[in-house]
Amino acid sequence: MRLIFLGPPGAGKGTQAQILQERYGVQQVSTGDILRANLQQRTELGTIAETFMRRGDLVPDEVAVRMVETELDRHPNGFIMDGFPRTIAQAESFDALLERKGWRLDAVVLFEAGREALIARLSGRWTNPRTGRIYNATTSPPKRAGIDDEDGGPLVQRDDDKPETAEKRLAVYEKQTAPLVDYYRRRGKLVAVDAMQPVDRVTEEIVAKIGAAAAA
Ligand code: AP5
Repeated sequence: MRLIFLGPPGAGKGTQAQILQERYGVQQVSTGDILRANLQQRTELGTIAETFMRRGDLVPDEVAVRMVETELDRHPNGFIMDGFPRTIAQAESFDALLERKGWRLDAVVLFEAGREALIARLSGRWTNPRTGRIYNATTSPPKRAGIDDEDGGPLVQRDDDKPETAEKRLAVYEKQTAPLVDYYRRRGKLVAVDAMQPVDRVTEEIVAKIGAAAAA
């Protein structure tokens, strides 16, 4: 299965990618997680990305595309792209890359959600930086505040989830990423889901709609 999850910050792309990777036997490829890991390890890529990410801006297209090109070699049997592509230029490069590999994209899932709920979700998000597991202080809290249920290690809040940076990321999404909705709709790949439902209902809707899209 080769999927792209598309939607604004906080819509639940990462949450659903983690749930569905097991079901489809493929891995989540989160460009945000890869960039954050590079930032933490102080790699050259992390140093380039840092200023952009702290401001809530996108890293340059060529950086994102090169990173995905390298990463995709590890996923010959499929993937769930979470956070890529994010601009028309990235989408065109990705199309070319898939064509070179002879891979067909099954569907692009659009997560539809209202702006106010997104800011609230982001301000309540806690993440395990070691595994990527995502919690929410209101809707899906860990058993002990700040501690991961599974590995017992500390949970962290992302720097870019501060309200002013989250607002900026939403504006960047509207300007640079939202045009991808039409891009993929014209190619007959888009399925939209209501991301305001509880997590399990969103999962059910994705599974039902991907099944129909993949069979078409
Ligand atoms: P990235 O890490 O990709 O962030 P994002 O796209 O802004 O998405 P988020 O991770 O914030 O949200 P999500 O939709 O995954 O929501 P989640 O499941 O966590 O990118 C970060 C930065 O990296 C960018 O700003 C940019 O600088 C750079 N970057 C990355 N990719 C790039 C690219 N391709 N090109 C250029 N730059 C790039 O859920 C959010 C919260 O809501 C959680 O607390 C969760 O528990 C809760 N929640 C989820 N679903 C539900 C539900 N149904 N009901 C209630 N609560 C829910």
